[in-house]
Amino acid sequence: MTQVNRQWLLASRPLGMISVDNFQPGTADVPEPKDGQVVVKVTYVAFEPAMRGWVRDVPGQGSNVQLGTVMRAQGAGEVVASRHINFKPGDRVTGMFGWQEYAVVDVQGELLPVRRLPDGVTEEMALALFGITGLTAYFGMIDVGRPQPGDTVVVSGAAGATGSIAGQIARIQGGRVIGIAGGERKCAWLTQTAGFDAALDYKAGNLSERLKDLCPDGIDVFYDNVGGSVLEAALDNIATGSRIVICGGTSSYNVSDEALVGPRNYMRILNSPSTMSGFLLGQYKSRFDEAVAQLGEWARNGKIRYAVDLQEGFENVPATLLRLFHGQNLGKQLCRIA
Ligand SMILES: NC(=O)c1ccc[n+]([C@@H]2O[C@H](COP(=O)([O-])OP(=O)(O)OC[C@H]3O[C@@H](n4cnc5c(N)ncnc54)[C@H](OP(=O)(O)O)[C@@H]3O)[C@@H](O)[C@H]2O)c1
Repeated sequence: MTQVNRQWLLASRPLGMISVDNFQPGTADVPEPKDGQVVVKVTYVAFEPAMRGWVRDVPGQGSNVQLGTVMRAQGAGEVVASRHINFKPGDRVTGMFGWQEYAVVDVQGELLPVRRLPDGVTEEMALALFGITGLTAYFGMIDVGRPQPGDTVVVSGAAGATGSIAGQIARIQGGRVIGIAGGERKCAWLTQTAGFDAALDYKAGNLSERLKDLCPDGIDVFYDNVGGSVLEAALDNIATGSRIVICGGTSSYNVSDEALVGPRNYMRILNSPSTMSGFLLGQYKSRFDEAVAQLGEWARNGKIRYAVDLQEGFENVPATLLRLFHGQNLGKQLCRIA
């Protein structure tokens, strides 16, 4: 192959808020695939706040992105060369392709295998619903949150990729679902489009009091994507025997370890008493097919909706990541690069 592969490389490790200057453009040849590999022409790059963690310099954490190498990311694209029996040129696929125009990947993948998109499933749907965030919402809510009919379920980061799907899953399970999100536009989308029972704008202040008004008997399941003061407001209002799901803590990702403060009211977990559980999507790798099948059925039946925030252009890839940390995305953050 003779194409030039444009890439975005990690140039420096951010201190505090991540910036476009932490990345630099690069080029490479497009190599031939080895046995078990495919070459993918990347069309969409997907973004998650966890990418801020992937560029940290954590001693012993070899899985983090190394300086001078291609930034890691999930994406979608088209197979252009294959040395795997299950894939052929022209197949539309998702996988961990990184910030580059051509990716050479092992089909098995470290976290996510390369998956072929079924007919009728767009790249946007595949990344928004069946990608990292949709799968995370499924396992975090079904397995960790375990909402029961009649439960009051509160989701933070609710208008984001994970939160929006997690909340709708809780509603399908019979929960009364309240979303917490930044700004009126997002709150209106939650109640008018995504079917949440209520939504609270945490930027409007008095979150703890407003949660109390909406949840007089307490919160049975709190699905947390953001941490910080939003988590504290939820802890103020947890019911006896509640389940607190720590899916993520986006508010802390650009804050130095020294400046981080834990929830001041964590003794509420003891006094309720409640359980607080973290989880990692990778724990559920053997059940991804189950999640994709169930999410697909709910989407076909109109029970789950997803939103996509689509940016355009390879040159805009680093800037698109920053949108997550400034709350600019509604739904799944994507950038189309081809
Ligand atoms: N456990 C796992 O295995 C796993 C896997 C995937 C993702 N996650 C986690 O799931 C969470 C959601 O990821 P996502 O991809 O769906 O992102 P997302 O929610 O689509 O986007 C991030 C959102 O976070 C909110 N935010 C940003 N800065 C904030 C701050 N300082 N305080 C409060 N909210 C803030 C913004 O929404 P507002 O406008 O509403 O503030 C922003 O839109 C992340 O924490 C991610 O790390 C966990």
